Amino acid sequence: TKPILPYDQIGEAKLSELIDVFYRYVGLHPLLKPIFPDDLTETARKQKQFMTQYLGGPDLYTHEHGHPMMRMRHNPFPITPERAEAWLSCMHQAMDDVGLEGHFREQYYKRLVLTAHHMVNTPSDKE
Ligand code: HEM
Repeated sequence: TKPILPYDQIGEAKLSELIDVFYRYVGLHPLLKPIFPDDLTETARKQKQFMTQYLGGPDLYTHEHGHPMMRMRHNPFPITPERAEAWLSCMHQAMDDVGLEGHFREQYYKRLVLTAHHMVNTPSDKE
């Protein structure tokens, strides 16, 4: 018996919806908007590929872009602890909006908290 993959639990349609709603919030957030492109279409497309493999689905991101090396790919962007919290708050809101609940949501969100904190590469700008 194969384990049920998180990717199969959420499904492609719901994951896609989550990422679209997430980037709508990112594009409105005062701390995030300035470091993202104005048009988030391509960013969302890549994030759907990445999240698919992050959740155990097919390796769509690696297939098109090579090894994720996510921390390194974020080096050009100043990611402060405040920006990590902002990113997570957009994700939290998006999860609420698309109705992700229960054990799956808890596990997924917890993992994203760890990954988001791992992306921090710039100290807090407030003293
Ligand atoms: C790309 C910011 C956390 C996955 C990007 C880009 C920015 C950014 C500015 C470039 C967008 C573009 O040029 O299209 C942030 C900030 C974070 C964060 C402020 C706060 C901690 C994360 C996390 C993940 C993630 C937690 C995954 C779990 C990605 C992916 C891309 C990306 C897959 C596309 C990479 C590519 O261009 O191939 N992020 N990010 N990011 N981010 Fe993040």
